[in-house]
Amino acid sequence: MLPFSTAAQWRCGLTGEEHQTMTRALLKATVMAGLVMGLASAAWADTAADAIAQRQAGYKAIGAATGDIKKAMEAGGDLTAVAAKAEVVSAFAKRIPALFPAGSGAESGVKTRALPAIWQNKSDFEANAGILGREADKLAAVLKANDKASVAAAFAAMTGECGACHRPYRMPQ
Ligand code: HEC
Repeated sequence: MLPFSTAAQWRCGLTGEEHQTMTRALLKATVMAGLVMGLASAAWADTAADAIAQRQAGYKAIGAATGDIKKAMEAGGDLTAVAAKAEVVSAFAKRIPALFPAGSGAESGVKTRALPAIWQNKSDFEANAGILGREADKLAAVLKANDKASVAAAFAAMTGECGACHRPYRMPQ
């Protein structure tokens, strides 16, 4: 009678050595797949942390830029110099959609005030970023022209959009 292992080898047509090689190859493939998946999730976490850091820094910068515009308006002097600050807001607004990749909410484990509603209503969220960009461009134009009569309304329209996005999409402090 044939020992069991020999019978099994005979059935699958492989010698003992071939069988071992195949088992090792399969094991290797499984370990590799696990490694790749592990690396992918690590990269994913990095992407989320990176996006969160970048958007928070960007928002801080547009907060400062908006404050500088307000100060210049209150000072009542020439406004052409702060037009560049409105351009900072406009440039950042264009980057907003890319700075909210899937998985970069609170589930990433990184501290963020981004609410899940962002990913549930991604197109509305992105539309808000688009409005911010357009209002910032309009403000930049009237600041550049030192058109004081139009600046207050343009500033209110732009800052109104900050709140319009924060209310549904940013966690209160
Ligand atoms: C398209 C939506 C949207 C618009 C428009 C928007 N914000 Fe925000 N803002 C957010 C979200 C979401 C966060 C939270 C980001 C996070 O914590 O990951 C945030 C965070 C901030 C922060 C805190 C940054 C930090 O972590 O220190 C400031 C300051 C800020 N926004 C200012 C502004 C100003 C000023 C405007 C308008 C000129 C504006 N935002 C327009 C969505 C928006």
